[in-house]
Amino acid sequence: MATFVRTSGCAADEITMATAHPARMYDYLLGGKDNYPADRIVAEQVLRAAPEARLMARENRRFLHRAVRFLVAEAGIRQIIDIGTGIPAADNVHQTAQKVTPDVRVVYVDNDPLVHAHANALLTGTGRTAAVLADLREPHKILDHPRVRHLIDFTEPVALLLVAVVHFIRDEEDPAGIVRTLLDALPVGSYLALSHATGDLRPITAAQVTEAYDAATSPLTVRSHSAIAVFFNGCDLVDPGLVQVPTWQPDGKRPKGYRNIWIYGGVGKRI
Ligand SMILES: C[S@@+](CC[C@H](N)C(=O)[O-])C[C@H]1O[C@@H](n2cnc3c(N)ncnc32)[C@H](O)[C@@H]1O
Repeated sequence: MATFVRTSGCAADEITMATAHPARMYDYLLGGKDNYPADRIVAEQVLRAAPEARLMARENRRFLHRAVRFLVAEAGIRQIIDIGTGIPAADNVHQTAQKVTPDVRVVYVDNDPLVHAHANALLTGTGRTAAVLADLREPHKILDHPRVRHLIDFTEPVALLLVAVVHFIRDEEDPAGIVRTLLDALPVGSYLALSHATGDLRPITAAQVTEAYDAATSPLTVRSHSAIAVFFNGCDLVDPGLVQVPTWQPDGKRPKGYRNIWIYGGVGKRI
């Protein structure tokens, strides 16, 4: 059985490839190659319950890129902390941001050692990006990490990306408290971009998908619009607010079936 040994930073020492992991399932849904049989089995279960899951993954990714372009081009952000990075795909956050302006600095944070290894290999090296192996459930460790401190100036506005990751934090782990801790460390004028699965729109499907994720390393917790809006407390939401991801500042035709996408996304400015 293949294993991947953590080198630092997290509670567990090892992740087995025998258990599905959200990062690799997401990679499979996006058509990537960095996934294993266990990931594909659970991802196929997800697809049986929710045939829209591939479209959801793609549209979530497109939301991420539109949000990053907005943050850099319109909000003037020059530093980004991206927690829940995912396995590198065609366009990554620093590439999207640096296409707008090359001096943007990005720290990638993920708790999956495979993601971290890929991120270290593919996403760093220019001096303007760094990868950190850390867990969102330990926000102080992220904020205090030497690579974060080296690249991010906490006296200047920062964009915090929590895209399709907070739904892997259970209620008892206090996701709102975690987001608040991170936002409180950032100066006024910083931004939060967040997307999150919801049970509001297709509750039966969402329940079946949640059940499938019980076999993965991180269970999925879908939340209502009002519960997700809480993560933006202390922020002014940028237009059009917290909406289904394809409808957040769309830059082209919305895809067929976009109404079935049960992920909300939004961008807020810390006030
Ligand atoms: C669905 S992917 C989203 C990737 C990317 N943000 C995007 O939206 O395209 C979720 C990512 O969050 C990471 N993740 C899940 N739980 C996490 C946690 N507690 N701490 C840090 N990363 C986590 C997974 O390893 C995975 O890479």
